Amino acid sequence: MTDRLNILLVGSGGREHALALRIASSPLTANLTVAPGNAGIGEIAECVAIAADDVPGLVDYAARNAIDFVIVGPEVALVAGLADRLAEKNIRAFGPNAAAALLEGSKSFMKDIVAKYGIPTAAYARFRDRDAAKAYVIEHGMPIVIKADGLAAGKGVTIATTPAEAEAAIDEALIGGRFGAAGSEIVIEEFMTGEEASYFALVDGETVVPLGAAQDHKAVGDGDTGPNTGGMGAYSPAPVVTRELERQILNDILRPLASAMVAEGRPYRGVIFAGLMIVPGPAGPKPRLIEINVRFGDPECQVLMARLESDPVALMLATAEGRLADLPPARWSDQAALTVVLCAEGYPGTPVTGTEIKGVAKAAAVEGVTVFHAGTKRSADGKLLACGGRVLNIVATGSDVAQAKTRAYRAVDLIDWPGGFCRRDIGWRAIEREAVS
Ligand code: AMP
Ligand code: GLY
Repeated sequence: MTDRLNILLVGSGGREHALALRIASSPLTANLTVAPGNAGIGEIAECVAIAADDVPGLVDYAARNAIDFVIVGPEVALVAGLADRLAEKNIRAFGPNAAAALLEGSKSFMKDIVAKYGIPTAAYARFRDRDAAKAYVIEHGMPIVIKADGLAAGKGVTIATTPAEAEAAIDEALIGGRFGAAGSEIVIEEFMTGEEASYFALVDGETVVPLGAAQDHKAVGDGDTGPNTGGMGAYSPAPVVTRELERQILNDILRPLASAMVAEGRPYRGVIFAGLMIVPGPAGPKPRLIEINVRFGDPECQVLMARLESDPVALMLATAEGRLADLPPARWSDQAALTVVLCAEGYPGTPVTGTEIKGVAKAAAVEGVTVFHAGTKRSADGKLLACGGRVLNIVATGSDVAQAKTRAYRAVDLIDWPGGFCRRDIGWRAIEREAVS
């Protein structure tokens, strides 16, 4: 039996609140601290005011406070080498080292590996030179996708439908410096059509343990309209990912990718979040890789945690220690889970902050519902205030996505927050599929 662990969880969103709830109740946990956390996390764990991207601050805190295991929510610190710095101090981490985190940190790196090992993805080319980039766009035609190479907080991708839009995106990145160093190189790639889905797996070296599929809703408005956000809601499982597609995702994408990273001398340890396009074809739908993230999705993590019956700490520790192959398969509920994200007015532009939220306890009392905090804080007199764009997540389970949706919106309607809004149609694709099957 492993000794109980002092755990430091890094991050401050709904993803981290969902992880914190499971970590705090794990038999493997002695004590949980979260950096920096939020008002909801503060109700179940100690929060310390260290930013999620402050690598030296996080390492220093872990070393001084006898932390045994650091679980990293967001990608920025991983790309900057948090796991490497912790390893130098013999502290275990859930999350890849910098060499492997480049799968998310550099789209050029990711595309080159994927192309070299024959993993299905969009055709692409890399550019630093604006004229060469423009010539490629003209040669290939519209629509076309232009991506800043590095981390750009979800804003680095342009889907251009006219040559003028494509040229503007190229100039903004390569000449205007819109993304700083992250945009000094760009990837231009083929536009893929189909339905998007996300797939999650734990990976240590060659071992790939499937966690399952989810879908999120990126657009801010009902009917998937309006500008993109970090995610307005999600559900799992995603009925678009059939057993056959899951087999292909594992055999044609994730297992070859894990082996490729080992062959390249960059073995991956952590969760892989594959963004996929499910592309229709004469021989049935096929998965093609859009992007790799080196972390759980937010809000996808919230719905995965709602369905995971095994102890996530045991799974994450085995990943960090390279013992995944020895674990029994993870156990999953056969229930569906769905989450609705409540946002502050103004999001995804500048959100209005400081508005008061009431009714959380009433919402959380609805059958099957858990409420997670994302951008919240407490005022000096104990009021719950919005302090970010995505503010609360209402997570519900049910016998299918439709029932989970009904329960989630019943809870949403008990939240008293005039300064907030949400989409009313989370889950519509899955529910349409459930209705015909
Ligand atoms: P990424 O940051 O690479 O995931 O891109 C953000 C979003 O842009 C994705 O979730 C897709 O909706 C879209 N996207 C990215 N690459 C492509 C592509 N090659 N074809 C179609 N849509 C894409
Ligand atoms: N919900 C998408 C992401 O976490 O990147």
